[in-house]
Amino acid sequence: MKKFENSVKQIIRVNHAGEYGAQKIYNGQIKFCKNSKLKKKLERISSEEKVHFDYFDEQIIKQRVRPTLMSPLWNILGTTLGVVSSRLGEDYVNACTESVEEVIVEHYKKQINFFKSQKINNELKRKIEKFCKEENDHREDAINSKSKKDSFGLKVFKRFTKLGTKAAIEISKRI
Ligand SMILES: [Fe+2]
Ligand SMILES: [Fe+2]
Repeated sequence: MKKFENSVKQIIRVNHAGEYGAQKIYNGQIKFCKNSKLKKKLERISSEEKVHFDYFDEQIIKQRVRPTLMSPLWNILGTTLGVVSSRLGEDYVNACTESVEEVIVEHYKKQINFFKSQKINNELKRKIEKFCKEENDHREDAINSKSKKDSFGLKVFKRFTKLGTKAAIEISKRI
C-alpha cells in the first residue's frame, strides 16, 4: 500500500508542476499576442489550465505532497517558451501547443493506465481522464489551426519543445 501511496504522491507532484508550467506558457503567449482571435482562444485554454492547476494545488495540500523544488525554474522556462513562441508568430504558438499537449496527453494516459492496472477508479483518476480529454482538445485545435506544412524551423522548434517537456516531467517526478 505504501508503494501505491508514494505513486499517488508522485502523480500529484508532477501534474501540479506540469499544470503550473502550462499556465506560465499560455500566459506568456497571451501577453505578447497581437492577433485578437488567437488571443481569445489562448485565454479560453488558459482558463481550463487554471482549473487543472487548482485541482492539483488543492490535492498538494490535502494529501500533504511536497511540491517540486523546480517551480522557480519552470516559471522562467515556461514563461520564456510562451513569450518566444508568441513573438515568433501564430504558427509557433500552435506548434508549441501541439508539442506540449502531445507529451502531456501521453503522460496522463500512462497515469490512467496505472490506475486501471491497480483496479482503482477514484476521483483523482477521473479528474486526470477529464483533463486528458481537454489537453487532447487543445492539441487537436492547434493541429487544425495550422496554415501550412511545417517549415524546418517549426520542426526543430517542435522537437526541442517536446524534449524539454519530457525532461521537465521526469525531473518534476523526482525533485
Ligand atoms: Fe492542463
Ligand atoms: Fe492543456
